[in-house]
Amino acid sequence: MPIVAVLGSQWGDEGKGRVVDYLAKRVDIIARFQGGDNAGHTVVVGNQTFKLHLLPSGVVTGKLSVIGNGVVVNPFTLVEEMDALEARGIKPNIVVSDRAHIILPYHRILDGLQERIKGKFAAGTTRKGIGPTYADKMARIGIRIGDLKDLTGLKEKIELIYKYKQPLFEKYNIECPKPEKVLEDLRKVRERLLPLITDTTVLLHEALAEGKWILAEGAQGAHLDIDHGVYPYTTSSNATIGGVCTGLGVPASEIRYVIGVVKAYISRVGAGPVPTELTNEIGDYLRERGREYGTTTGRPRRCGWLDLVLVKHSHRLNGFTHIVLTKIDVLSGLKEIKVAVKYKHSELGEIDYVPASMKDFAGCEPVYETLPGWDDISPEEWANICKQGVDRIPENTMKYIKFIEGYLNVPVMMASFGPEREQGILLQDIELN
Ligand code: IMP
Repeated sequence: MPIVAVLGSQWGDEGKGRVVDYLAKRVDIIARFQGGDNAGHTVVVGNQTFKLHLLPSGVVTGKLSVIGNGVVVNPFTLVEEMDALEARGIKPNIVVSDRAHIILPYHRILDGLQERIKGKFAAGTTRKGIGPTYADKMARIGIRIGDLKDLTGLKEKIELIYKYKQPLFEKYNIECPKPEKVLEDLRKVRERLLPLITDTTVLLHEALAEGKWILAEGAQGAHLDIDHGVYPYTTSSNATIGGVCTGLGVPASEIRYVIGVVKAYISRVGAGPVPTELTNEIGDYLRERGREYGTTTGRPRRCGWLDLVLVKHSHRLNGFTHIVLTKIDVLSGLKEIKVAVKYKHSELGEIDYVPASMKDFAGCEPVYETLPGWDDISPEEWANICKQGVDRIPENTMKYIKFIEGYLNVPVMMASFGPEREQGILLQDIELN
């Protein structure tokens, strides 16, 4: 069972790149299975910071990176990101599934238009065209990466889609990108992409048969999942464990580890209720210290106390074998730290799950446990503590870690106290053999 999945347990931006970076060195292949360039991974290696959107963050290791069939691919972003990596001395080693759907210019325009029309129901999307591309996939009018191989067929498909989309664009007085222009732009990147296109399902199965390890790198988080997240304020893909199987074409029985990444507090970009949001100076403290500004959009993130109801619900959906706790350092210097352990609702009573209705969710009051804080500790000191070992972790920090571990009843594999590789500590490693 040589697959290890790394999944976000909250609303994305949990710091998944941190654990992916650690595991990527030990696996053979890194694969993305859902989402697109709406994601934003910041990977810090030495004095270099890489901001990636579409490519898996593990690509910086030079290992084979797979963009699976469940991903929606903006071909222009893909080429840009490859070029940017090459310019910094990293030769990306990438293959792209012929079944992955393509984000085209009209999807991005439609994303903005839909948000405008939706008004108060708008999700606050990244405007990358994610929703409209997945919608076309489901409506069976999408264009797939494999279609780039056949220019005649591609032309026909783009012309057909124009027929569908044009009347809607016209209604809103927006110019629909002309098929000739879309085709011309695709031709420009096509030559770069053709050598990368393959049946990644077959490739991954060959790797599995050889006993190779695959790291399935999740984007976004469980509560942005299209089925299980806070609909309609979600993304349009499955960021939970089932997405690994459908988005890569691998069976569930091949998944050995499911690692849930949990940020030590919460952050949220976009709309929708956030029960533990702090709109006071503590929220600002978390945002500034945690540099909580969107990697993709630059938007300030909404911040608040850790909500263990969200994480517990995410554990139900994913069955975490381990968790990784990130950005614990951000909480340093606070006198006390609160953690939501259940919700109180006027009609539903006390609950420990996320209700389906956003009206119900908005009426959920978090019930907190209060834990003692710890001193402010500099990034250098955290690195020092990590070097010296678990015993050097401040007592109250350890209490916080143990509280989360106890509540979820899932072992903490790694705790991280900053973006640098040396600012993390392994509490219980996994075996990859
Ligand atoms: P979309 O994925 O661009 O359609 O956006 C839908 C929702 O998901 C919005 O609330 C976005 O802010 C959120 N979202 C999408 N990708 C990410 C991510 O990588 N991190 C955090 N939030 C995200």
